[in-house]
Amino acid sequence: MKVLILPSKEAAILRAADIVAAQVRARSDCTLGLATGGTMLPLYAELAKRHQAGEFSMTGVTSFNLDEYVGLAADHPGSYHRYMAEALFDLTDMPIMRAHLPRGDAIDPKAEAMDYEARIAKAGGIDLQLLGIGQNGHIGFNEPTSSLGSRTRIKTLTDSTLEANRRYFDTDEEVPKYAITMGIATILEARACLLLALGESKAEAAAAMIEGPVSAMCPASALQMHAQTTVILDEAAASRLKLTDYYHHVHPGGRESDYS
Ligand code: F6R
Repeated sequence: MKVLILPSKEAAILRAADIVAAQVRARSDCTLGLATGGTMLPLYAELAKRHQAGEFSMTGVTSFNLDEYVGLAADHPGSYHRYMAEALFDLTDMPIMRAHLPRGDAIDPKAEAMDYEARIAKAGGIDLQLLGIGQNGHIGFNEPTSSLGSRTRIKTLTDSTLEANRRYFDTDEEVPKYAITMGIATILEARACLLLALGESKAEAAAAMIEGPVSAMCPASALQMHAQTTVILDEAAASRLKLTDYYHHVHPGGRESDYS
């Protein structure tokens, strides 16, 4: 796992944007795995800004989002379809026909989950998977105790996730209780993963992911098994790590090492 610690939130976002932009420039027909949540918003804003400045085009890109809430139609204000349109797709030349998210309002959500997994495989898999991390160590909506061999399926969200999502809905009743999410094995099949964690509230989960045992209790720890995972942290999110000096030594200022 490549651990890059950046001095500030802003620097961490710019570093993550560098990696995504480099991927799109290197292979204009690449397939990106996309995440949602608060952490991704400034990253998508930075990518949209760079696109508008002419740094890269997304016309050849295919994307697959990690997850969507069961029961929400694409035009629901709280849906991840809407989030992605507002945060990235409408601000770039991303072709909407190749921007995939699970359909939250599918009549048969279980069949939709299986079909989504098949669509990722048919597209040839994911080149770069973006990830955030929940305070409980979830990636996508793979909550603690999710099987490390799991595939795209329906997950029941934990109380802590419902609480974190409450801010996006008007009432408690509206907060979705289930999501269709890529599984942990699905995520691990991406050719590279890039996880961004910012702020003190993510420090404990980041430490468990990077330095804890590989365990379903911290689903993100499964990334220790992935040979091409980069984790970008700001100082606050890195504050509970034990080997901080080593990470700074290998990647001073969050830069590449001489051999990576
Ligand atoms: C959503 C997703 C989630 C979030 C995580 C962190 O697509 O993948 O795993 O990345 O819940 O969310 P924020 O960034 O809001 O703290």
